[in-house]
Amino acid sequence: MIWRLAAAAARLLPPEAAHRAAVAVLHRGIGPAPLLPEMPVSLAGMKFSNPLGLAAGFDKDAACPAGAMQLGFGHVEVGTITPYAQPGNARPRVFRLPEDRAVINRYGFNSAGMAAAARNLQTMQDLPGVLGINVGANKTSQTPTEDYRCAVACLAPYADYITLNISSPNTPGLRDLQTDANLQALIKAGRAGLTDADCQRPLFIKLAPDLEEADIEAICARAVADRIDGLIATNTTILRPDSLRSAHRKEQGGLSGAPLFAMSTDVLAMMHRYLGDKGPALIGAGGVSSGAQAYAKILAGASLVQLYTALALQGPDAPARVIRELDALMRADGCRSVASATGKMTAPGAAIDHALRLAQSA
Ligand SMILES: Cc1cc2nc3c(=O)[nH]c(=O)nc-3n(C[C@H](O)[C@H](O)[C@H](O)COP(=O)(O)O)c2cc1C
Repeated sequence: MIWRLAAAAARLLPPEAAHRAAVAVLHRGIGPAPLLPEMPVSLAGMKFSNPLGLAAGFDKDAACPAGAMQLGFGHVEVGTITPYAQPGNARPRVFRLPEDRAVINRYGFNSAGMAAAARNLQTMQDLPGVLGINVGANKTSQTPTEDYRCAVACLAPYADYITLNISSPNTPGLRDLQTDANLQALIKAGRAGLTDADCQRPLFIKLAPDLEEADIEAICARAVADRIDGLIATNTTILRPDSLRSAHRKEQGGLSGAPLFAMSTDVLAMMHRYLGDKGPALIGAGGVSSGAQAYAKILAGASLVQLYTALALQGPDAPARVIRELDALMRADGCRSVASATGKMTAPGAAIDHALRLAQSA
């Protein structure tokens, strides 16, 4: 109840101020600390206490991963962190679309840079969950792949896994790294960064929802050939569905939340069809705000699920609610583990219908 009131109070602030306040509060370890069912997931040598993670973008400077894990997330992905500090785009640059249960942001990788993030991470020991570090290129970089090498080399020692983010719509040219020739060079740079740091870590790549099927097929083939450990589907979309009603629907940037759910689940399911049960694991992100939606992504092929917008719009109770709902749904469906449900329904529409119907009948 108290956290619901706190979330309602935060909604009275402009969205970026509310975001800053939430990071500051979690940095101090203030927030609910729910007792949650164990839903273990093993992936690339890492052990997750449950499949739900906090997606990148909330904790851009690795200021509060422990506080975020305390809310119930089994993993937290900090970043996107760039080699050098940069201010990001002019304000206002993040907008709530309450009628659409969505957000549009064009932050543009505002970041204190990798050295500041490394200083924050040095002070943290024994985090209660898995830590992902998401890295990207500076806006004015002439050699973006070199930025990835540098950031990986600096930050890998603190990470359980590294994500190469090549799907933000707010850094010009970044999404071009998703084409095959560029992707090959990017993965090489990421691996070179790990070698520089002298530590091996699982490598994930985060992709856009606005890809053609042929691009998805090529990315999956490259990820298998280059032994990528995980693909995150997806980042925000540049599309603006006709269904949007909120005043801010025409703002530039990436759209997240409810309108992204079906679109990102389609991309996830398509990747699962190309990958089968081999190759990189899939991490589903986009529009998850309930256990049923998390379950739909798992059925469509996800081993892990991430959310961000639901936390921003609903407050700090959201992750615990999603995990409890997911656990109840999987039990009702006779599912003993997340792994046994992953990829059980290849058609995304069928996975969504099944999970939502199960939730309605519960
Ligand atoms: C305000 C905001 C900032 C974001 N910043 C980043 C970022 O820096 N790096 C990144 O990889 N994704 C970023 N994202 C994308 C999210 O990590 C996530 O992939 C996307 O929002 C879909 O999930 P959701 O609908 O649960 O928010 C951001 C999203 C939002 C809403």
